[in-house]
Amino acid sequence: MGRILIQDVAKRYLNRRYNERTNDAHTTKKTITVLEHVSLEFQDGEMVCILGPSGCGKSTLLRMVAGFESATSGKILIDDQPVIEPSSDYIFVFQHNGLLPWMTVWENVELGLRHLNNEQEKTDTIQEYIDMVELEGFESYYPHQLSGGMQRRAELARAIVVNPELLIMDEPFSGLDFLTHLKMREEVVNMHQFIKKTIVVVTHDIDDALVMADRVVVMGNAPNNVVLDRKLDFPHPRNIEKVDGLRELRDELYLMLGVNYAV
Ligand SMILES: Nc1ncnc2c1ncn2[C@@H]1O[C@H](COP(=O)(O)OP(=O)(O)O)[C@@H](O)[C@H]1O
Ligand SMILES: [Mg+2]
Repeated sequence: MGRILIQDVAKRYLNRRYNERTNDAHTTKKTITVLEHVSLEFQDGEMVCILGPSGCGKSTLLRMVAGFESATSGKILIDDQPVIEPSSDYIFVFQHNGLLPWMTVWENVELGLRHLNNEQEKTDTIQEYIDMVELEGFESYYPHQLSGGMQRRAELARAIVVNPELLIMDEPFSGLDFLTHLKMREEVVNMHQFIKKTIVVVTHDIDDALVMADRVVVMGNAPNNVVLDRKLDFPHPRNIEKVDGLRELRDELYLMLGVNYAV
């Protein structure tokens, strides 16, 4: 479970600036093509990191994989089934402020286990996930009583307790301070090695991709949306500075994203 096939997908939006009455070059296009000829294949259990400049369609692609939006043309298949609508059974979309403010950490995590009837098993599972994200002792805290990083970790526990076949994360570390970002990233890598489910993460941080990914996809603007699609076969934990292949790939990615000075 969790194999994703994106076949020649295109996405066009209506151009809100289109004006029927002028011939101005900027306003003559009725539609904007965000994605074109996007074909990708993610394996079951793979951690995929998607990089790319803002506005190139990363979130759009994720929304289509999650079933929130449909492709203008092409197909998206998960385990050979076309994605038609969102399914909370096997996809979880991780989002900021996803915790319910009137519920404690425990109750928020418990939400993902509504279907479990065995109380003992439920209690054990909730505790296991709270421990995994190192929030033991904070079970009875409400979200507003936690720091930003702790909230994010509670959100992570809430996401993975559901045990989804596919976890989708759109810029999960944005807004975190440097150290919390690193810790949270480590948390996601550990969690992935534990649950071995497919995770698709959009990030703007090249190091995130190098440290986390089994596959890196670099996107650009249409019509050339997939600039790079590369499998990374390096063991975890990874130290970019100490692994030759990773250091070189970092330089390559910086250049690809238009930054010359870092190389
Ligand atoms: N509902 C929409 N209607 C019109 N244009 C949209 C809509 N959603 C996104 N776009 C446009 O699609 C492009 C890609 O957006 P997005 O997928 O959010 O990019 P990214 O996540 O890579 O920053 C942007 O130019 C954005 O303005
Ligand atoms: Mg986005």
